[in-house]
Amino acid sequence: MTLRAVVAGCGHYLPERVVENSEFEKTLETSDEWIRSRSGIERRHFAAAGETTSMMSEHAARAALSDAGLVPEDLDALIVATSTPDLTFPSSATMVQSALGMTRGFAFDVQAVCAGFIYALANANALILSGQAERVMVIGAETFSKILDWSDRSTCVLFGDGAGAVILEAKTGTGNVQDRGILATDLNSDGRFKDILYVDGGVSTNTTGHLRMEGKEVFRHAVEKLAQTATTSLAKVGLTGSDVDWVVPHQANIRIITGTAKKLGLPMENVIVTVQDHGNTSAASIPLALSVGKARGQLKAGDLIVTEAIGGGLAWGSVVLRW
Ligand code: ACO
Repeated sequence: MTLRAVVAGCGHYLPERVVENSEFEKTLETSDEWIRSRSGIERRHFAAAGETTSMMSEHAARAALSDAGLVPEDLDALIVATSTPDLTFPSSATMVQSALGMTRGFAFDVQAVCAGFIYALANANALILSGQAERVMVIGAETFSKILDWSDRSTCVLFGDGAGAVILEAKTGTGNVQDRGILATDLNSDGRFKDILYVDGGVSTNTTGHLRMEGKEVFRHAVEKLAQTATTSLAKVGLTGSDVDWVVPHQANIRIITGTAKKLGLPMENVIVTVQDHGNTSAASIPLALSVGKARGQLKAGDLIVTEAIGGGLAWGSVVLRW
């Protein structure tokens, strides 16, 4: 008998305001054609003034609870992966805990930028396997619109806001790869590359700052490192790309997504793609893609999924799970 962290439900939330690429043509020297062809992005959602990461998280969390048929008091832990918290402290996770009326258990944030949800999933899995929690809510939520430089056409057209949530629940498996739940994880970071994707401000410098990125450099690392981490986590349980039903990648750029799928030897029919409608929502992109993939009827119980992400740090990683 092996303990497994199994997905009990998922949900997502997108802010009401949808911004098409063409809106940027009014203020920047850019075009819908450029944004589409270089990134695959067609539109994104932006949070309303006063709409925060914890507010969006709460919506996604309630949708996941409803999908799982659970109530907040059923949760032992709640993790929010975000780089755009409401406040420096308390954590966004404790704000969501309070908003849900969850008065037991524990809550904390994880900050690994676009790889945040993968890091949070791996942590939730470890909490479950070590017996510290039986049910963990894992949320990825971002308001990147608050840290974009609207005069920098090479970054501001690429990002969006949103939140997604997944509930993991302890179940007993047999120990083989036919089990539902998380089967393998792989986490990596390399701070030597911290300067190719960062925010030029933060609390201890008395600033908020804006997102800065050397797009070409990030791109160069992304395809290679994403394919490598996916291959590594699959190999940990004796699997390869050919065993995978769905790749659920971080939704940064369609060219990164197709390049990675190709390296894994998988056709695009096996890849969940939402980047055209959401843009890059950083830590929110994977739980959003999982929830949308389920709503579209693509993800079915028993499907083998590999999910992977890379972001500022650089930090990257992957999780293999059976849905
Ligand atoms: N509209 C029109 N032209 C633009 C725009 C724009 N929005 N942005 C940049 N350009 C121009 C550049 O200034 C450059 O002009 P120049 O040749 O006169 O200097 C030209 O377009 C080409 O720029 P490149 O940087 O060569 O364009 P590239 O094909 O590399 O695409 C992009 C740029 C989309 C940023 C790409 O490099 C990329 O996707 N990189 C990865 C970024 C990413 O995914 N980051 C997130 C991952 S990590 C995370 O999620 C936080």
